[in-house]
Amino acid sequence: MKESPLVVVGSGLAGLLVARLAAEYQPVRLITKNTLYDSNTWYSQGGIAAVWSEQDSVELHSHDTVIAGDGLCDLQAVNVLSNQSRTAIEQLMLLGVQFDKDAAQQPRLGLEGAHSIHRILHAGGDATGAEIQRALVESVSEHPNIEILEHTLATKIQTNELGVTGVQCYHFNTQSSTIIQSRQMVIATGGAGQLFCHTSNPKGATGDGVILAYQAGAELTDLEFYQFHPTALDLPSAPKFLISEALRGEGAVLMNQAGVPFMEAIHPQKDLAPRNVVSQAIAHEMSHQEEKNVYLDCTSIAADQLTKRFPTIFKNCLKYGIDIRKDWIPVTPVAHYMIGGVVTDLYGRTNVPGLYACGEVARTGVHGANRLASNSLLEASVFSIRVSQVLKKDLKTIFFSRGHWPISHGPIGQEMTFPKNKRTVQQNELTVFDFRKRMWQLVGLIRNEQSLLEMNRLLGAPCLPSALPSSKEEFELESMKVLGKLITESALERKESRGAHFREDFPNALTHQMNSIKKRIDHPVF
Ligand code: SIN
Repeated sequence: MKESPLVVVGSGLAGLLVARLAAEYQPVRLITKNTLYDSNTWYSQGGIAAVWSEQDSVELHSHDTVIAGDGLCDLQAVNVLSNQSRTAIEQLMLLGVQFDKDAAQQPRLGLEGAHSIHRILHAGGDATGAEIQRALVESVSEHPNIEILEHTLATKIQTNELGVTGVQCYHFNTQSSTIIQSRQMVIATGGAGQLFCHTSNPKGATGDGVILAYQAGAELTDLEFYQFHPTALDLPSAPKFLISEALRGEGAVLMNQAGVPFMEAIHPQKDLAPRNVVSQAIAHEMSHQEEKNVYLDCTSIAADQLTKRFPTIFKNCLKYGIDIRKDWIPVTPVAHYMIGGVVTDLYGRTNVPGLYACGEVARTGVHGANRLASNSLLEASVFSIRVSQVLKKDLKTIFFSRGHWPISHGPIGQEMTFPKNKRTVQQNELTVFDFRKRMWQLVGLIRNEQSLLEMNRLLGAPCLPSALPSSKEEFELESMKVLGKLITESALERKESRGAHFREDFPNALTHQMNSIKKRIDHPVF
């Protein structure tokens, strides 16, 4: 067994930032199932929203966040988000993130859907996440108080009646399992776009962290709100590469196959309407007019501005024969962001003592039923900083209020050997291919009772992932099925359409507020 005061699982913005800041006063073990660079953050193009310009205000950013959130935002959490946005950006700058600047050497601010004002900072044009990841990986790698464990999968959080005591891990390189003892653990494993066959997310976004926390007794909520980004490249030969909303912020327009700018008739903000409105409008075009996709017309943007501001999108589209300076880009919605997740307070604490969550895996309440564009990197930054600020204080409180905190026993400094996985419960037979396809068809952008019941039936009663998987893929699929089941059940329970959750059979929002749908394993302790 190995002992560590703090374990951080996940190496996107949230995991890297919390590890880096906490390492100032305690040793940290940073666990990541692939390499330090594999994260959703890396792929983030558009940027990070912040109250930065003098014309902007905390009230205005909060207002935009709440309007996009369609009645379900936690106002206290939104206030924290907006109030601390500037400090969070300054913290990232201190750690070496280079945002794009204007002629006056101030961050250049872009516009995105449902924002009242230009307030999106970006880096490398459309490579904001990659720049943040680069800076944080460098900073974390240099820190003497951080031990990095790559190719390591956290398979089970260990708890006793007082809270977290450690985490069981599987190391792919050595094919061995260990238990890392810890009284505090931060889950920052990102989202779960891989549950759907069309997604902007990388391969690792399989929702393991949500299920890890769920299995430890943490409460989950708002899982029915999965955000579908309106525009990913839609070519049979190409991956579903994200086409940033920032393009529409610069003037690009969605067109149907007849060349009609269809958003004009749908929302006063047209192509810059909230993301759920745009995605659902595209789905409507595609289903009702038998169109395979719609198009994004960027030709009104000056050619040199297009290539300078969106170099990644420009090069990637060109690779597939689309010159965005003159060709319309075929686009389709894709699964993009998990709005719900592990319920936390304003400091990332879950209901399991010693267990924290931040970034996409956490449900802080800031996004309500639909996330405002570019609020994800902001939420991850603001709340990771807040988690890092309370860890030390919480540990002391726990000790003083509870006295001795026993840690699980076991031989120290040795690897644990475990019996082979002898589970008798058989998983249903859905392959990963079928599972993702069915989730897209039945629990995707447009759902109804029949489709949801069908997915529920197909999933049966998936068992929780084994702490001793025979492969990473097995562990991921088991986690995905449990999460798929919880999303499906939540979507069935919410008999209304709101934000990112659209039910054909209940197309309107309820006039009264429905309680949020909570999921939690019956746990005797927490
Ligand atoms: C985008 O660039 O359109 C994605 C940004 C986000 O998801 O907030």
